[in-house]
Amino acid sequence: MKQVLIESYGTPWEVARCAEVPDVGAPAADEVVFDVLAFPINPADMWFCRGSYRLKPPLPATPGAECVGRVTAAGAGVKHVRAGDLVINLQRENWAQKRKVKGVDAIPLPPGIDLKQAAMVRINPPTAELMLSDFVTLEHGDWVIQNVANSAVGRLVIVLAHQRGLRTVNVVRRPELASDLRQLGADLVVVDADDLAARVASETGDAPIRLGLEAIGGKATGRLCDCVSTDATVVHYGSMSGLNPDVTRNNFIYRGVKLTGFMLGRFMARRNPQQIRELYAVLAQQVMDGRLYAPVDTVYPIEQIKEALAHADRGGRNGKILVSPNGAI
Ligand SMILES: NC(=O)c1ccc[n+]([C@@H]2O[C@H](COP(=O)([O-])OP(=O)(O)OC[C@H]3O[C@@H](n4cnc5c(N)ncnc54)[C@H](OP(=O)(O)O)[C@@H]3O)[C@@H](O)[C@H]2O)c1
Repeated sequence: MKQVLIESYGTPWEVARCAEVPDVGAPAADEVVFDVLAFPINPADMWFCRGSYRLKPPLPATPGAECVGRVTAAGAGVKHVRAGDLVINLQRENWAQKRKVKGVDAIPLPPGIDLKQAAMVRINPPTAELMLSDFVTLEHGDWVIQNVANSAVGRLVIVLAHQRGLRTVNVVRRPELASDLRQLGADLVVVDADDLAARVASETGDAPIRLGLEAIGGKATGRLCDCVSTDATVVHYGSMSGLNPDVTRNNFIYRGVKLTGFMLGRFMARRNPQQIRELYAVLAQQVMDGRLYAPVDTVYPIEQIKEALAHADRGGRNGKILVSPNGAI
């Protein structure tokens, strides 16, 4: 079977290769084997290949934080999934044609779900959902501000916030995205620049903004903090610039703005397995209904992992880069 391996940390498309490796074998009683049907290349996977992600395992290593698969065999002790079921996997190392995992880590998805969308269910939808629910108690009509608003997470935030009756200020770096994001339910789309806070105040009529979601780092974090109201919470959940947050102290001292962070695993760990399955069941149903959707730019075969990684690194994409290791999509 084929599997992506990195044998040194560095430029993703230089260090990753598609290797021939032994088959995963049959499942033990508490295990599940599935064919990987599709996986996305997420920013965290790129950091992983570079060796700058929080997890840096001994080499060779296989990246891949998420995927969708179809179960080919389940051990006798596994009761919640069986051969033929579609699953997502709560564990990593998914850039391969086949995976063998503990049954408890295989979360069933509804049959008939779009495979491309299913490949992106594990991380970004619960990230958007939990960032809206776990930090600030928001009321109908409240404003939320976010940057990287056209990212997969950002688009999900727009839709999920709109469903809750919240209003969103969406900060982007490309003005041509505005109408696309408005169609999803974005109330305001603004282009990031030094005068961001003044423009946001003017366009919202100086409305209080109690939650900010931030994934760029550097001075962009500071600009977002400048936009929120006194005592607001800003959640730093990614660093597309690779820089640490740079925030003027006035936001903390005079206005009591709280800068905190989000990591999906940390917030999932507050939920038991049943709650996690229920969360994914609700999100997967929204995907089935077409209410949650992440655009896909290009699908590559696993043999072209280098091309896929180089493409994923380029800005200005029209959605995610996916890989189809068994030709299923
Ligand atoms: N903490 C967690 O648990 C967690 C979970 C999921 C995701 N995340 C983070 O969420 C962020 C978005 O992930 P995603 O999968 O939604 O990303 P994505 O769909 O691949 O989109 C990447 C976004 O980043 C923007 N971008 C890239 N480089 C930038 C830069 N230097 N300055 C400003 N914007 C830049 C892109 O803008 P253009 O379209 O204009 O190029 C695009 O909006 C990432 O940082 C990821 O690590 C964190």
